[in-house]
Amino acid sequence: MTTPVTGTAPAPGRSRRRLALGAILHGSGGHIAGWRHPSSPPDGQLDIDHHIRLARTLERGTFDALFVADTVAIWGHQYDSLRRTARADHFEPLTLLAALSTVTERIGLVATATTTYNEPFHIARRFASLDHLSAGRAGWNVVTSVVPLEAGNFGRDTHLEHGARYLRAEEFVEVVRELWDSFDDGAVVRDTASGHYYDPAGLRTPHHAGPHFTVRGPLNISRPPQGHPVIFQAGSSETGRAFAARHGEVVFTAQTSLAGAQAFYADIKARAAAYGRDSDHLLVWPLLSPFVASTRERARARLAELQELVHDDVARRLVQDNIGDLDLSGYPLDGPLPPIGATNRSRSRQELMLDLARRENLTIRQLALRFTTVGAVAGTPEDVADHIEEWFTSRAADGFTISFPYLPGAAEDFVDLVVPELRRRGLFRHTYGTTTLRGHLGLPRPRAGIGGAGGTGGAGGAGGAGGAGQPVGAGRQAGPGAGEGNR
Ligand SMILES: Cc1cc2nc3c(=O)[nH]c(=O)nc-3n(C[C@H](O)[C@H](O)[C@H](O)COP(=O)(O)O)c2cc1C
Repeated sequence: MTTPVTGTAPAPGRSRRRLALGAILHGSGGHIAGWRHPSSPPDGQLDIDHHIRLARTLERGTFDALFVADTVAIWGHQYDSLRRTARADHFEPLTLLAALSTVTERIGLVATATTTYNEPFHIARRFASLDHLSAGRAGWNVVTSVVPLEAGNFGRDTHLEHGARYLRAEEFVEVVRELWDSFDDGAVVRDTASGHYYDPAGLRTPHHAGPHFTVRGPLNISRPPQGHPVIFQAGSSETGRAFAARHGEVVFTAQTSLAGAQAFYADIKARAAAYGRDSDHLLVWPLLSPFVASTRERARARLAELQELVHDDVARRLVQDNIGDLDLSGYPLDGPLPPIGATNRSRSRQELMLDLARRENLTIRQLALRFTTVGAVAGTPEDVADHIEEWFTSRAADGFTISFPYLPGAAEDFVDLVVPELRRRGLFRHTYGTTTLRGHLGLPRPRAGIGGAGGTGGAGGAGGAGGAGQPVGAGRQAGPGAGEGNR
């Protein structure tokens, strides 16, 4: 395998900021009724040819990355509503991305994996494998899980409490990084003449022992081409933001207004700087769901057409599932929300919904329909490009997580109509100048052995840390703040 290009320096005199575009790869679309859209293939969720075509469309649009979201449970347990959505049916993300890595060449491949229902060794190994398969295009969206039903699939009666999930996640990420650094860059020499496959001086055995994990290591695969696959995160609560600021290199957010997005952007960058990180190495990507047509009227009609397809049962469950732990079955859809107490779900998601309901004085049905359009922009290609340009230049976004409401039509419209407009404005690349996801995003390649997202510079020297069997990290208690000095 050739050595991948690492982070690119900006051309002299040009701004370091670059607009990034990522796309969520939902089989039949991000809108809850997207699978019912007349142009979406009914079997889109599990049709590999459909996914390949989508990935190639996005690569034609020089997208930085495509992203596969995940929960390790069926999304919802009310079969009345579940049977009316495509959510019961989706590929396991890393399996899908492994397949897509063989039919794409440049686009980044990002998958969600939960720290609550996995072991660090498995995750380090799978993402290292994807990074090798794709020659440096892997990214890991670190989540702590939000769906209570996930607990039931892993021997637990209830979901871990919010704070406990993040404590486990802190140590989880530290262990994964230690495992990715098991072999120094260049330690795997494959010297057929001397008969040495790897140089033992370049091998670190983590010997990690902490409150949640005891992992001896080393990992059974060479250091990933990117050093570490890129870390994505979507923390939004106080604890979640602290975690994202410490570890996230791309931070997803579902902000609903420009002012809110600017405040989030400033806050998360300041937090990253307070942890000793370069805030340019944490990129903020709000959600954007584009409905593009040649006129505004047509674009709005497309949005209205999808909203009409949201069944009453689905509307009720959307509100119930995202606020969490309440039963709305006794309440009229066209009436107000009942009073809501604290829950163990995603706090930010609950706050987002309650805030929308209060601010816009919405009934349960209106709240559901409003929620399906968080991040929606319906308009001409110029309107959508204006939105992107305004949020980018006013520091509400470094890039966007594009959730196409229906597929493949909405992705094709965006690539054929909006991307050329962004290029014409000088906002977006015409071709990939780099080969790795880190390269596309202008993120540094972490040096081996320093553990953090902010590690910059060249490859760590072989032999700089303990050799085979040496307990380099023995007894290290990785908790909040562990290793901060490295970032
Ligand atoms: C663009 C985007 C993608 C997300 N993808 C996932 C996902 O794939 N799986 C998941 O469990 N949660 C996902 N989430 C939800 C976040 O994990 C959750 O909102 C976040 O953890 C905030 O949690 P907090 O309120 O505890 O900070 C996503 C959120 C956003 C904005």
